[in-house]
Amino acid sequence: MEKIVILTGAGISAESGLSTFRDEGGLWAQHRIEDVATPEGFARDPALVQGFYNARRVQASKVQPNAAHEALARLQRDWPGDVVIVTQNVDSLHEAGGAKDVIHMHGTLAGALCSACGHRWTAPPEMAVGESCPACARPTARPDVVWFGEIPYYMDEIYDHLSSASIFAAIGTSGQVYPAAAFVHEAQAAGARTIEINLEPSPGASGFDERLVGKATQTVPRWVGHLLAPHS
Ligand code: NAD
Ligand code: APR
Repeated sequence: MEKIVILTGAGISAESGLSTFRDEGGLWAQHRIEDVATPEGFARDPALVQGFYNARRVQASKVQPNAAHEALARLQRDWPGDVVIVTQNVDSLHEAGGAKDVIHMHGTLAGALCSACGHRWTAPPEMAVGESCPACARPTARPDVVWFGEIPYYMDEIYDHLSSASIFAAIGTSGQVYPAAAFVHEAQAAGARTIEINLEPSPGASGFDERLVGKATQTVPRWVGHLLAPHS
């Protein structure tokens, strides 16, 4: 049966109340990437970076999944083949909306990582700088978020899914960051039909077979309904 691989970005969580990065007033208009989303920034001022992610973690814990998250969970339940959700987002709204086995290629706000031994665990709501690692006891805890210049998680698994995708959808992402921005080409090389679902066409929109433009809470349920209609 046809496998569907879905890549999501910050835009799918926008209507839940979480800022995107590159829209007007987005996170990168409020903070410098060099300061809060690079290993160098963390080394320079760990308290600033830890505070940035603590604030995002607390904010993300207060919002709810929206109709787009819930529609993708329904697709996973009702589609007669595999539906794999790969997200660049570090919030957990896909899981809150009922999705399973979500692949967080950029890590999660809920997670902590030990810079020394690589151990990953669930972070406390307000993680202190120099928090000790529960595995190696060294004071080397950091947010479990993949920063610019670092390698995303689960890439082998992701490329394996893309190589056997029949349908690939990119939802709510500006397609500005690699390697995620190239997933559409990997899927097309495998013969997949590709669609971009976005508030407005991204700079790479013309590289997709189809485009669905509008708010995710309207476009994603419509797209899922269209896919499931023949199977309902
Ligand atoms: P990139 O070079 O693809 O950057 C894309 C855009 O991000 C750039 O056009 C620029 O707008 C911005 N950017 C990147 N680095 C910047 C910097 N040091 N200062 C200011 N702006 C910067 O991104 P990349 O560095 O090649 O990313 C490589 C890895 O980092 C990738 O594996 C990606 O998955 C990961 N990453 C993680 C996050 C995250 O916050 N989780 C964000 C972006 C990238
Ligand atoms: N519905 C659908 N799409 C939306 C909505 C909405 N309600 N609101 C915004 N969008 C779209 C925007 O048009 C934009 O194309 O979501 C996209 C958000 O793009 P970015 O802010 O660049 O976020 P994203 O693509 O997820 O960024 C990728 O860059 O900085 C890193 O860590 C960050 O993982 C992130 C990566």
